[in-house]
Amino acid sequence: MTEQIVFYGKGGVGKSTLISHISAALVEASFKVLQIGCDPKADSCTTLNGGFSIPTLSDQLLHNRVISTETAVTRGFKGVNCIELGDAVNTGASARDSIESAFQAISRSTIIDDIRPDYVLYDISGESSSVSLLAAFRQFPVKRVFIVTTADFISLSAANGIFEVLEQFADCNIPVPLGGLIPNSITSSFEESFIADFAQNTGTHVMGRIPRSLMVRQCELYGKTVIEASPLSNQAYFYRRLANQIVDVTSTLAVKNPPRPMTREGLRLWAHEWADRLFALENGLVTDGAAI
Ligand SMILES: Nc1ncnc2c1ncn2[C@@H]1O[C@H](COP(=O)(O)OP(=O)(O)OP(=O)(O)O)[C@@H](O)[C@H]1O
Ligand SMILES: [Mg+2]
Repeated sequence: MTEQIVFYGKGGVGKSTLISHISAALVEASFKVLQIGCDPKADSCTTLNGGFSIPTLSDQLLHNRVISTETAVTRGFKGVNCIELGDAVNTGASARDSIESAFQAISRSTIIDDIRPDYVLYDISGESSSVSLLAAFRQFPVKRVFIVTTADFISLSAANGIFEVLEQFADCNIPVPLGGLIPNSITSSFEESFIADFAQNTGTHVMGRIPRSLMVRQCELYGKTVIEASPLSNQAYFYRRLANQIVDVTSTLAVKNPPRPMTREGLRLWAHEWADRLFALENGLVTDGAAI
């Protein structure tokens, strides 16, 4: 049984880094994994491939209508299967058409049958509204969506926007596929509290956090994940723990209660309250972020 999992989040929050580490942790635990980078930059799987970019599906679709597993898939760290959709703008397609046709090409191909992955992980950037997310839902039986976020208002507003999209599933009586929020690059207990409170206000669930670590940057410069370059480090442990949680959450039944996105005014009010708390923290009225 192949579980299809989408990771989504605002641009730059660390999705590709995080997903590559989840892939590395899953292959290390003997699961078969296919990671699909859905970003025109085609940089999702770089740290699984020694820091090198891999051939993109868009470039191959320029020459062939049908793609084969051999040409489309690159095998990286411990045999993890990697695809980069790349930038189909070369083909004259709009961003929307290009992602849709790339997903269709994967659906029509024998890639999933040939690889028989336990998990397909899609790396989808929230930069271009929810077009790519909806295209994934149309083409694949997406079991779970995880939202990667940093502890800043813009990333959480983007998450709130995704909740509005997911609310449509509840209207259609389809189980809501939200897996949870994944806090990335966390540096303090204040940041944890901030995301936890957002989750509480939107009726969502927070997964294990990933701390901000220079080791991630260092290993990225070596062209590797932390799991490959520093397998015994604490940071590698955080990624492995998250991978376990993702496996658990994905194998359980779909969520019954949809997330409750905040209204624009509600979100503003919520932000204002946190600004007041930060003011208190900055001015020494509260000394520990954990207390707020
Ligand atoms: N936990 C972390 N600690 C420190 N640095 C991190 C962490 N996670 C990600 N980064 C760094 O943040 C930068 C951006 O990460 P990444 O490219 O994965 O973001 P992204 O969300 O995929 O961006 P985009 O939306 O542009 O595709 C990278 O240099 C990466 O090394
Ligand atoms: Mg990325």
